[in-house]
Amino acid sequence: MSTSPGPTPAPELFTWEFASDPYPAYAWLREHAPVHRTTLPSGVEAWLVTRYADARQALADQRLSKNPAHHDESPHAKGKTGIPGERKAELMTHLLNIDPPDHTRLRRLVSKAFTPRRVAEFAPRVQELTDRLIDAFAEKGSADLIHEFAFPLPIYAICDLLGVPPEDQDDFRDWAGMMIRHGGGPRGGVARSVKKMRGYLAELIHRKREGLRQEGADDLISGLIKASDHGEHLTENEAAAMAFILLFAGFETTVNLIGNGVYQLLRHPDQRARLQASLAAGETGLLETGVEELLRYDGPVEMATWRYATRALTIGGQEIPAGDPVLVVLAAADRDPERFDGPDTLDLARRDNQHLGYGHGIHYCLGAPLARLEGQTALATLLTRLPDLRLAADPAELRWRGGLIMRGLRTLPVEFSPSV
Ligand code: HEM
Repeated sequence: MSTSPGPTPAPELFTWEFASDPYPAYAWLREHAPVHRTTLPSGVEAWLVTRYADARQALADQRLSKNPAHHDESPHAKGKTGIPGERKAELMTHLLNIDPPDHTRLRRLVSKAFTPRRVAEFAPRVQELTDRLIDAFAEKGSADLIHEFAFPLPIYAICDLLGVPPEDQDDFRDWAGMMIRHGGGPRGGVARSVKKMRGYLAELIHRKREGLRQEGADDLISGLIKASDHGEHLTENEAAAMAFILLFAGFETTVNLIGNGVYQLLRHPDQRARLQASLAAGETGLLETGVEELLRYDGPVEMATWRYATRALTIGGQEIPAGDPVLVVLAAADRDPERFDGPDTLDLARRDNQHLGYGHGIHYCLGAPLARLEGQTALATLLTRLPDLRLAADPAELRWRGGLIMRGLRTLPVEFSPSV
């Protein structure tokens, strides 16, 4: 159902073709039905917000809650979120599912431990991890950049930052692999992996808390345990939930930033050549604006995570009843011609680029400095060490993982001259 039918029929959403290239459908929605009620593949009905101005406003609107109870308890909700009660209670400790004042308190505490300075000091380690992963396939002359590079890099990076001992990091790689292959659904192997990861983190936190009494450790988990604000601390449960959300929110997003980013560079040889030339000259400016542009142009997070109307409100002239879910489509907003000049052109040097790829408002991505560091290091090192990197598949044959929230490639086969 469309709110304001246009001259051409509404495009089909959530099909295989849509996952490969959602941008024409988003252009249609922005123009003809900018706040559009649709039935999601799960059967839940939700509003899609696709214009930049509306999206930015909705992301900051406190009448839109992150708490799913507002939907499931609404008498006119069509289709439930399907989150069982006991999982709801557990999810309520996650930053992405809570509202102020709880959100304000937890975010302030985690921000004391996960500081931009901690991330900046981590830069040499990210470079080391990046080089080690490239070393493993550089002599082969070919690789699947998702499995051999984009996937392991963020998982090892966040494990290191948190303070997961090296001998346990491959377990994380396996659990995360299960989660990414089978989507975020709370079933079967995925649920088991999530449970194992959470159980491991709870135990690690417990051990570290005991250990801290004897020695001061400087990893992020120890930082979370020590963080205090007006005498308040995170409980062990809250610290475990926080460590888990850092892994969960920072993993597939970064896989897709690297995967989508490399793919788009390979498809835009002029832009890629400019970036290679600037890296060869020892400059970082184009790399920095370039990673932001790749986030705008083909970002990892297609839609912001769920929001629910706590009362009736109007977005872009459209009335939204209380209880209805609202999905802000970041990928559509970031191609809005009302906001960006030539939005469908990839321009790594773009300056006026206040994209919504990391969200906006109180839930703005906490991990943005780490994501930027990983994205910039990964792209610069790949292009420098494998200068003739090229796609080894027909783009039309590549498969995309199109969940509702994330969008990224399943595989990215490449070739290059073998190097040592
Ligand atoms: C929130 C994007 C990497 C941790 C968000 C949101 C977006 C986003 C759009 C807001 C969601 C909403 O409002 O519904 C991204 C992208 C990334 C990335 C595009 C990579 C390129 C990371 C990393 C971490 C992280 C590496 C941590 C290690 C978080 C957390 C939140 C968040 C904890 C919740 C913040 C809150 O609710 O206050 N991210 N993210 N993200 N992100 Fe990221």
